[in-house]
Order: sequence, then structure tokens, then C-alpha cells
Amino acid sequence: MSASAVIPYSIPSLTTERLILDAMTMADSDEVERLAGDEAVARTTASIPHPYPPGASRPWIATHLADFLAGKSVMWAMRLKSTHALLGCIGLIVHKEDDNAEMGYWIGVPYWNHGYTTEAARATIRFGFEYFHLERIHARHMAINPASGRVMQKAGMTREGTFRKHAKKGDTYHDIVYYGLLRSEWEEAVAQKV
Ligand SMILES: CC(C)(COP(=O)(O)OP(=O)(O)OC[C@H]1O[C@@H](n2cnc3c(N)ncnc32)[C@H](O)[C@@H]1OP(=O)(O)O)[C@@H](O)C(=O)NCCC(=O)NCCS
Repeated sequence: MSASAVIPYSIPSLTTERLILDAMTMADSDEVERLAGDEAVARTTASIPHPYPPGASRPWIATHLADFLAGKSVMWAMRLKSTHALLGCIGLIVHKEDDNAEMGYWIGVPYWNHGYTTEAARATIRFGFEYFHLERIHARHMAINPASGRVMQKAGMTREGTFRKHAKKGDTYHDIVYYGLLRSEWEEAVAQKV
């Protein structure tokens, strides 16, 4: 049986130089709510409410395994390899009919600007192309959030354009910047590093 024919029953863990990406559990819910509850994290994400309702992470965490097994998405906790501290999360929402996926992520403010999200994004992109056999991975960020665009650039993605006033957060309409990476581009980049 080939590796791709093995049917998983849990979310696979990934390791990078400094991080472990693994399944989130209910034991993470308090820390998720503490980190995501920071207004600076909620401000530039599409779906994190502020204030974060107590307990609201639990039904979200409860969807992760079933959605992964259904091939709809993968969501990982980003943890420090050295301490297992939860830093944030990263994942892909898969659109199987088009063989593409959208990558999304957030990380707690104390951990910003250490390169952690970029490290996790590279591993997530590899997983997306190898496991889900995607043709394309995209990601998008509010124009007011250049740090996220920088993560996308460092992960090898190409800026594809801006949708003006495309998303509403609170009472404000935000310009949304799109990045994409094709399988062929990713394979070429991997081949150049070997
Ligand atoms: C965006 C976010 C995920 C970045 O995570 P991170 O772990 O700090 O990212 P990294 O350290 O891998 O890379 C950040 C890069 O942005 C740069 N950066 C930080 N602030 C910046 C700013 N105001 N303008 C431009 N670049 C900035 C950093 O210098 C770094 O680039 P460099 O390595 O070239 O110096 C994090 O800030 C976050 O979670 N924000 C809140 C939630 C969010 O916006 N999620 C993404 C939604 S699209």
C-alpha cells in the first residue's frame, strides 16, 4: 500500500526546527482564549471576535478532527518544541473540487516577530501539496496587516492583487491582499534547495 493510500484516524503532527504542529485539544482552550482574546490578535483576523466569549474555543476545537477526516481542513496548534507552550494556530481550508486551499494563522502577541509563523507556514504548505495533492494554496490579509503579507512572501507565495474594501470588520471595510502559490512553483523551489 502506498503512503498516500493510508487512511489516517488522527491529525498528523509535523515538526520543524523549533516547532511542533499538532492537534489542538480541549486542554488548550483556556490558552487559546487568552492569546486570541488579545485585541491585537482579533483586530486583523476575519473571524476572531473581541472580546472573545469564554468557552467559545471549545466547539471550534471540537470540529477539527471530523473536518480533517472529511478532507475539509486541517488545523494545528503551533507549539514550541522546547517547552510545548501553545503559541497560536495554523491551518488550511480545503476546496477539493478545485484542488486548492486557503491558509490561515494567528499567533499570540508575546511570540510575534520570531519567525515562528513563517516556519509553520512553510511546513503547512508542504503538507498541503503532499497530503491533499493541491494545485494551489492561497492566503489573504488585511492591507493594514503587512506582517502577515511578509509571512506569505517569506513562505514563497506571490502577491496576486488587492480586493478593495472586500471585508467588513466592525464598522470598517478593509482592502484584502491576496497571495498564491502554485504546485509547480513550490516544486521548483523545493528542487532548487536540494
Ligand atoms: C501576522 C502574524 C501571524 C505574524 O506572525 P509572526 O510569527 O510574528 O511572523 P514572522 O515572525 O514569521 O514574520 C513576521 C514578519 O513581518 C515583519 N513585520 C512585523 N511587523 C511589521 C509591520 N508593521 N510592517 C511590515 N512588516 C512587519 C517582521 O519584521 C517579519 O519579517 P522579517 O522576518 O522580514 O523581519 C501575527 O502578527 C499575528 O498573529 N497577528 C494577529 C493575527 C493575524 O493577523 N493573523 C493573520 C491574518 S491574515
